[in-house]
Amino acid sequence: MEKGASFEPVKIADDIFWVGAIDWKIRDFHGYTLRRGTTYNAYLVMGSDPILVDTVKAPFKDELLERVSKVVNPKDIRYIISNHSEMDHSGSLPQVAGEIQPEKVFASAMGLKALSKHFGMDGEITAVGDGESIELGGINFTFLETRMLHWPDSMITYIPSKKFLFSQDGFGMHLASSERFADEIPEGIILEEAGRYFANILLPYSKIVKKLLSRVGELGLDIETIAPDHGPIWRKDVSRIIDLYARWAEQKPTKKALIVYDTMWGSTEKMARAIEAGLGEAGAEPMLIPIRASHRSDIVAELLDAGALVVGTPTLNNGVFPPVSDVLTYMKGLKPQNLVGGAFGSYGWSGEGAIEVGKILSSMGVEMADEPLRVKYVPDFSDIESARELGRKIGERLEVSINGSQA
Ligand code: FEO
Repeated sequence: MEKGASFEPVKIADDIFWVGAIDWKIRDFHGYTLRRGTTYNAYLVMGSDPILVDTVKAPFKDELLERVSKVVNPKDIRYIISNHSEMDHSGSLPQVAGEIQPEKVFASAMGLKALSKHFGMDGEITAVGDGESIELGGINFTFLETRMLHWPDSMITYIPSKKFLFSQDGFGMHLASSERFADEIPEGIILEEAGRYFANILLPYSKIVKKLLSRVGELGLDIETIAPDHGPIWRKDVSRIIDLYARWAEQKPTKKALIVYDTMWGSTEKMARAIEAGLGEAGAEPMLIPIRASHRSDIVAELLDAGALVVGTPTLNNGVFPPVSDVLTYMKGLKPQNLVGGAFGSYGWSGEGAIEVGKILSSMGVEMADEPLRVKYVPDFSDIESARELGRKIGERLEVSINGSQA
């Protein structure tokens, strides 16, 4: 703990306090670059017996306990609910549980397994079932499994009497801030970071997001507050972020067409500019993304509301240029849907790069408008016209895709 720091809890609702930690410094979250740090949110529910919902990353344990201690003696906490076993939320759980000696630590059935495997907490975890409700400290808590959103153990916890949802990673964002509520932060920042979070963490699970939103509707959960495990709390107009999740999970194509490329001597870039012109002529809205000027996590954030993905690479040593491979590997894992696209690139003597990119895009389910376009050394007038034509073809295919999705 920093000398002189004073970590205050924040009352966020009747009998509920935010007691988490703010990580102002973190910028790398296993490959996802954070622009504004993050928070590890934990919550203290002051029933007749205090209940701690989630913990924090291990180095922030003291910050958590100091905040708790300004509300209640940590040793008075009787129950801990662990909604998610990933170590940014559970890293301090063994130490916190060791210090406060709660009567029970609750997790999902898969959470029990994960926490046991991570920390050897065999015998210390009580599994709760999907849909199970338990009264703790005089308050009813309902647990809903959210498997693969985004780990097998993930669950959310709802307090019906308070219309309050602890949503773990869902509806969260990586954003360090001294404000605790989304409505206290400029909307542009909130929307940008919520979108970046969805694109980088939840995009592969879009179908599960849709199912969860349907289930919440079917169960008729009345939600006034959503308290995620990262970033600010939603207390006003929660339907706004829920509707955004529904839209992002749908991945409907738009006119936005990304041209993601790298270049060695400028030839692939010249092709990219010609494709940009062709896309524009066909009514698309092209966006050029030079890979070495953009981080992969920003590129996938742009992909969240795009309808076309065109990727360009020079050939290096008979293969794809490594910075392009990096982005494609990351993108492929996130399983973007409903894209049309194409591949292109210059080469010197073998020319495998663009062909390999075409195969990768096809394997991702991108509907290719044409064969990969390859240009030897430097594009001449005719090559530029071919690139422009590729852009037009992709733009026309995109128009069909957009119209089809509206049918
Ligand atoms: Fe924030 Fe999946 O941990």
